[in-house]
Amino acid sequence: MQYSLSFPGGTVKYTFQAALSELLGSYTSADCILLIDSKLAETYGNSFSGYRQILLEAGEEQKSLHQAASVTAQLLQYEAHRGTTLIGIGGGITTDICGFVAATYMRGLRFGFVPTTLLAMCDAAIGGKNGVNFGLQKNLLGTIQQPEFIFYDTRFLETLPAAEWSNGFAEVIKYACLFDRALFDELSQHDLGNYQNNSEALQLLIERCVNWKNNIVLADEHENGRRKLLNFGHTAGHAIETVHKMPHGFAVGIGMLIACNISETILQLDVTIRQQLETLLQRYGLPVAANIDTEAVLSVLKMDKKRSAGSISYILLEDIGKPIIRELDFDEIQLAIKSFAHAGSS
Ligand SMILES: NC(=O)c1ccc[n+]([C@@H]2O[C@H](COP(=O)([O-])OP(=O)(O)OC[C@H]3O[C@@H](n4cnc5c(N)ncnc54)[C@H](O)[C@@H]3O)[C@@H](O)[C@H]2O)c1
Ligand SMILES: [Zn+2]
Repeated sequence: MQYSLSFPGGTVKYTFQAALSELLGSYTSADCILLIDSKLAETYGNSFSGYRQILLEAGEEQKSLHQAASVTAQLLQYEAHRGTTLIGIGGGITTDICGFVAATYMRGLRFGFVPTTLLAMCDAAIGGKNGVNFGLQKNLLGTIQQPEFIFYDTRFLETLPAAEWSNGFAEVIKYACLFDRALFDELSQHDLGNYQNNSEALQLLIERCVNWKNNIVLADEHENGRRKLLNFGHTAGHAIETVHKMPHGFAVGIGMLIACNISETILQLDVTIRQQLETLLQRYGLPVAANIDTEAVLSVLKMDKKRSAGSISYILLEDIGKPIIRELDFDEIQLAIKSFAHAGSS
């Protein structure tokens, strides 16, 4: 299946249920350069032969200006020019760096993505946000520019480690909580194995998530309003991820539980929602408790607060499928994180 979507920042062609060879077959080796996650290059090396390649180390600590500079230097060596297409093949680290370097190299190369993790397929590759981390700040340096294409070859998922499946499901569960009660119920009736072993169900799930993300990005590409909703679970989540070096999705799962906790206090969210969410997270291999270093997490959040001049925009739930954005005082967040950390350690 194929369709194109037009955003202010460019038109993106989506291709689903396709094979990488079809995409590469539409380029000559002089037209493109492949930016490939080095682990994938080891496993799938033959699929890329004949094309110029730049290998990238995945992992959050590698999403750095340093690695972006190294990619830029290799592009120069290859004499990449404004007619060259940079194709990022890998997880969210690869697609974020690919988009960032492509948007800045000579003020803009053409670029597209072949996401190879569930997380990148459902989330990171979509929406045009690119960037790298700087110091303790995630995604501090970045651009918003749409890729020309996003190409889905789900056979790459056959080698995805279990923890990375769980990571991706945290974002899937996020969409369910925010927008899709039916999906929340569907996920509650299944588990990870169901989707790993049923490619049709997996395809439908990915396409559904792509739709949810695109609905939001079409309405608000530059995150002035509705796009903020996608930060559900991510405010505390990012701070926990940074301090505890926890995988993104694992931290986001905990962040969603903390957001439910705050929603119970402020919006009288039914406590059974948090219980259902806990069960769901566990079904998909995600933790629901953690020994959180509250002070360290709060100090990272304080840096976030400085960035937004005062209060913090927080995504809360009135119910599954009914998110709202609230400006919260730091104290309200502090209380919820402390109570979560306390519950986790008892
Ligand atoms: N730009 C956005 O809008 C957006 C949205 C969500 C997340 N993100 C970013 O995405 C990043 C996380 O992405 P990720 O979880 O894909 O991380 P990642 O790119 O580090 O990939 C995770 C791991 O899986 C490996 N891998 C990738 N594909 C594989 C495959 N097919 N088989 C086996 N191993 C494979 C990688 O080598 C890596 O070890 C974070 O930096 C996050 O900030 C960006
Ligand atoms: Zn995320």
